[in-house]
Amino acid sequence: MALREIRILGARVLREPAVPVEDVTDETRRLIGDMFDTMYDAGGIGLAAPQVGVSRRVLIVDVPEEEEKRHVHALVNPVIVEAGRTTDKATEGCLSIPGLEETVTRPVRVTVEGLSPDGEPVRIEAEGLLARALQHEVDHLDGILFIDRLSPLKRNMLLRKWRKSRRGGK
Ligand code: NI
Repeated sequence: MALREIRILGARVLREPAVPVEDVTDETRRLIGDMFDTMYDAGGIGLAAPQVGVSRRVLIVDVPEEEEKRHVHALVNPVIVEAGRTTDKATEGCLSIPGLEETVTRPVRVTVEGLSPDGEPVRIEAEGLLARALQHEVDHLDGILFIDRLSPLKRNMLLRKWRKSRRGGK
C-alpha cells in the first residue's frame, strides 16, 4: 500500500462526476488500501477516490463514535437510498480544502447502499457523524464539495480568505 497525493480545490478531478466501478477487482482493493493509508496519514475521517485523482465511485470512512467504537467502511458505487427529514448542523472540513471549516446542514439519518471491497452488497443505516461523513463523501463522487452546501455569500467570503491564506505560503 502507498500514500497517494491528495488533490486540492482547483483540481479538475474534484469537480467531475466519478465513474461507476464495473467490477470490484484487486485494483479496486489496492485503491481502497491506498486511500486508507492516505486518509490516516492526513488525519481525516473520510476520503473519496477523486480526492486522490481517481475518478471512480469509491469512498472510505473511519468515524469515531464513542469510547473505542469506530465505524470503518469502504464502499464501491455507494448510493444514498434514503434520507431522513430531520437535519442538524455541524462543522465540516475537507482534506481537499485544508484549513477551511464551516457549519453545514445535512439530514441526521441516511441509508446508503453499495458494494463492499469483496463486491458484496452492503447496506448501512447511519446517523450522526457517520451519516454526515457518508453524505460528504458521496457528494465528492458527484463533484460536490461541502462549500457548495453553504450560501453563495458565505462560500465566497470563505474562499477569498482561504485563497489569501494559501498565497501567504504554508
Ligand atoms: Ni471532503
